[in-house]
Amino acid sequence: MIIEGLCTTLNPDGGVNVAPMGPIIEDNFARLRLRPFPTSTTYANLKRTLRGVFHVTDDVLLLARAAIDRIPAPPATRPAETIDGAVLVDCCRWYEFECEPLDESGERPLFVAHVKHRGRVRDFVGFNRARHAVIEAAILVSRLHLLEREFILNEMAKLRSAVEKTGDEPEREAFALLESTLRVQWHEEQA
Ligand SMILES: Cc1cc2nc3c(=O)[nH]c(=O)nc-3n(C[C@H](O)[C@H](O)[C@H](O)COP(=O)(O)O)c2cc1C
Repeated sequence: MIIEGLCTTLNPDGGVNVAPMGPIIEDNFARLRLRPFPTSTTYANLKRTLRGVFHVTDDVLLLARAAIDRIPAPPATRPAETIDGAVLVDCCRWYEFECEPLDESGERPLFVAHVKHRGRVRDFVGFNRARHAVIEAAILVSRLHLLEREFILNEMAKLRSAVEKTGDEPEREAFALLESTLRVQWHEEQA
């Protein structure tokens, strides 16, 4: 099963990179199969350090902001307990991991990550259609280069209805942020 969450890795200067990632979860989170695009900071950091922390969270505003690289202030973190890494202070659960050396033999680069330590901060809030809609919208926005504009517009219209009907302010803000990213990106492509 793929679980969408947030992955922290360390930059060369020691700063913390936060990125949405959807690893394949194996053996009840004992192993994560991470497939970051070679253009991503997560890929570069994992290749260099082979370490990171995966977070299960319901904070879709942070997820949306991280997807478009617009986090206004770095989220609070504390040092991981078993690896050189950073744990988001606000999350539901976290998984500190170490990777086997990068496998680039397949279609996408693969890091097989072994979880060394896990912890829990708070309950997952529960299923909410607006939050799922924000996740879907963030995935669309992060795949602009792969998808047709008309398809994206149709999908966004369907997702917007779930956000309006079932979300609160953070979900509405996250969705509006993603919509404005689309407008800016497409405007720049036309200019
Ligand atoms: C829910 C979600 C899951 C994602 N999963 C992946 C993934 O598994 N691999 C990947 O390369 N990008 C994934 N992305 C896209 C990255 O988050 C996006 O390219 C991001 O800009 C990478 O950040 P980074 O350059 O800081 O690593 C996902 C995006 C979202 C919204």
